[in-house]
Amino acid sequence: MTRDIRDDIGHWVRPEIRALSAYHVPDPGRCIKLDAMENPYGWPDELVDAWLARLRGVPLNRYPDPSARRLQDSLRAAMDVPADMGILLGNGSDELIQMIAQTVAAPGRTILAPEPTFVMYRLIAQVTGMRFVGVPLRDDFALDTDALLEAVGREQPAVVFLAYPNNPTGNLFDAEAVRRILVEAPGLVIVDEAYAAFASDSFMGALGRYPNLLVLRTVSKMGLAGLRLGLLAGPPAWLNEIDKTRLPYNINVLTQASAEFALKHRAVLDEQTARIRADRAVLFAALQALPGLTVYPSEANFILFRTPAGRADDVFAGLRERGVLIKNLHGAGGALRDCLRVTVGAPAENTAFLEALRALL
Ligand SMILES: Cc1ncc(COP(=O)(O)O)c(C=O)c1O
Repeated sequence: MTRDIRDDIGHWVRPEIRALSAYHVPDPGRCIKLDAMENPYGWPDELVDAWLARLRGVPLNRYPDPSARRLQDSLRAAMDVPADMGILLGNGSDELIQMIAQTVAAPGRTILAPEPTFVMYRLIAQVTGMRFVGVPLRDDFALDTDALLEAVGREQPAVVFLAYPNNPTGNLFDAEAVRRILVEAPGLVIVDEAYAAFASDSFMGALGRYPNLLVLRTVSKMGLAGLRLGLLAGPPAWLNEIDKTRLPYNINVLTQASAEFALKHRAVLDEQTARIRADRAVLFAALQALPGLTVYPSEANFILFRTPAGRADDVFAGLRERGVLIKNLHGAGGALRDCLRVTVGAPAENTAFLEALRALL
């Protein structure tokens, strides 16, 4: 008797999971990697030596501190979390998005976000069995405030996600519109500030003023993407509930020790992010000077641009052939038709990207 694995899968795997594609990360090979909003800089040798010396003392045979107390204190200071607000840590902010969804998920419940935006909001809604409602941004990627408020009233979402600045468009939404959403939304509003290190505004200082506001941060874009560490800040009553969905010991000992060490030497990271902000302006101006591109202003460490109609796929492939990997968003369609996104790299990487792009246009 043979048992067909496809029958078992057809019977047991939830239809909404079968309909999904796993989150795909392309192999960069030997390409210059400008696709994932990483900080391109390493640390000076003496700092690497001091970090390795610190790791020597980390007991790998013991479970980590389950709530990572010391790390929480360092993050609170580094990210200006108000003293009366709680902190919850995740294995990347991705994990915190999942924990938020798991906390409120029930049949018929909705997660709402403007679109295009960070794709994990939709994916995690689907995985947790929730509805996802996307409200289109305007042509210039600004919030369509009326449409969004109308959708909030109609859908009564359990959670609204606002990436501030938004990925992949790079812009900050109008702060007054965000405040109106905070007042009118019946459930949680998560202001996702993954790119705070590169942005000119933040809602961290507004925590406590709105009982339904939580602010999401990550150390990934500051230069610590390999550690997988995100932070959710907000009223302790909310965080205590979300904490119940957290798997024990989700922040491993190496991440706890390394992040604490890095935050003690934060000046190095701050100097790197300042350099990236300055190089963003140089890259923006150079892109604008190229023929046929529409380049969108950015408050993050990446820049979105639109190629001449029908050219995104071949420009993306041509860059790859010339050894530069960026992100092709054309396949998402809609407002991202003909769009590519490049992460701000080190100056030599940006130059190599621009030279390859110039040759292709
Ligand atoms: C808006 C936004 N939020 C969250 C994340 C996830 O960051 P991480 O899981 O590395 O903390 C990203 C990653 O690209 C993002 O763009």
